[in-house]
Amino acid sequence: MYTMETLVRTLDPDAPDPEILAEAAILLRRGELVAFPTETVYGLGANALDPVAIQRIYTAKGRPATNPLIVHAPDIPSLREITAEWGERAERLAAQFMPGPLTLVLPRHPRLPASVTAGGPNVAVRIPAHPAAQVLLRTAGLPVAAPSANRSTEISPTRAEHVLKSLGGRIPLILNGGATAGGLESTVLDLTTDPPRLLRPGLIPPSEIEAIIGNIALPDKSNANEKQPMASPGQMARHYAPRTLLELVENDGADRAEALRDSGRRVGWVTCGEPEHVPNGMTPVVLPAEPSGYAATLYATLHILDEAGLDVLLVQMPPDTLAWLAVRDRLRRAATPEQTE
Ligand code: TXA
Ligand code: MG
Repeated sequence: MYTMETLVRTLDPDAPDPEILAEAAILLRRGELVAFPTETVYGLGANALDPVAIQRIYTAKGRPATNPLIVHAPDIPSLREITAEWGERAERLAAQFMPGPLTLVLPRHPRLPASVTAGGPNVAVRIPAHPAAQVLLRTAGLPVAAPSANRSTEISPTRAEHVLKSLGGRIPLILNGGATAGGLESTVLDLTTDPPRLLRPGLIPPSEIEAIIGNIALPDKSNANEKQPMASPGQMARHYAPRTLLELVENDGADRAEALRDSGRRVGWVTCGEPEHVPNGMTPVVLPAEPSGYAATLYATLHILDEAGLDVLLVQMPPDTLAWLAVRDRLRRAATPEQTE
């Protein structure tokens, strides 16, 4: 059913070729899909004002129609054209964090098709900082709806190759701007409630937001402590998941890794910083013991391990602190077993 040829065009991330971006902008204006790099993960873009283009996103991703999309624009005046109310909190957060990995949920402007917000009254908006995304949005002159450029429930893409693996044959163009710097999705904050509510932890930690606008409602701590990921509208528990079974451990996992190996399982063992002791003959994949370095490499590591023909990925959970909230949320989602009907 999908026989489309997917073109991959390589861009210098710091000085993206305007001709290639003009070609991409023309596709967007025609209602086609274009995958592009942002500073968080790759996005799958479509004209946010065109209901047919929006439908193409849901079809290509296999995304449930109940999960709304983030709309991207190049600057604050453009965001004000797609929201019905802006307000002082948005103004202050925008001054501090935009362009950047912060998404704000605000009342939706009536010119946006209902499918962008999955029928809801509010829209999620953000200004990506990546130079290629900036030039693309300015050249297209359109608000661009863009979820992460992966099929629904898969790990988000941090490189063009990840997009190709997931959506090749389903979309006409991927802009390759190399590895994304952030590696994890944006923070989603609902400004329509009082206090504002964190809907998805992301690259900007809650403390930095509270420093600008005061108290925000965090995910229910009783829930955040559980094995289940935090609730967020439209989000499924199983999300950001590799195909390989993923098991989480709160300690460094050395004993568990050894036990799995001794029972004949092929194990990918991922730690947060150097483990205290490494069982004979085992080699951990050591990720940085600091949240931003860890975030930048997590998805690329999971993509590689998922291709390695292993039986189980054993991942050490980083510390249970607010600085690690986003990483712990994604790991919990990745470990949630697939629902069977
Ligand atoms: O970093 C990012 O945010 C990336 C890049 C491409 O910008 N995009 C991204 O989009 O992660 P997606 O569709 O994979 O995740 C969007 C998140 C979901 O959790 C969704 O439920 C939430 O934002 N969201 C979108 N619109 C919303 C709305 N109107 N109200 C509440 N939540 C919303
Ligand atoms: Mg996504």
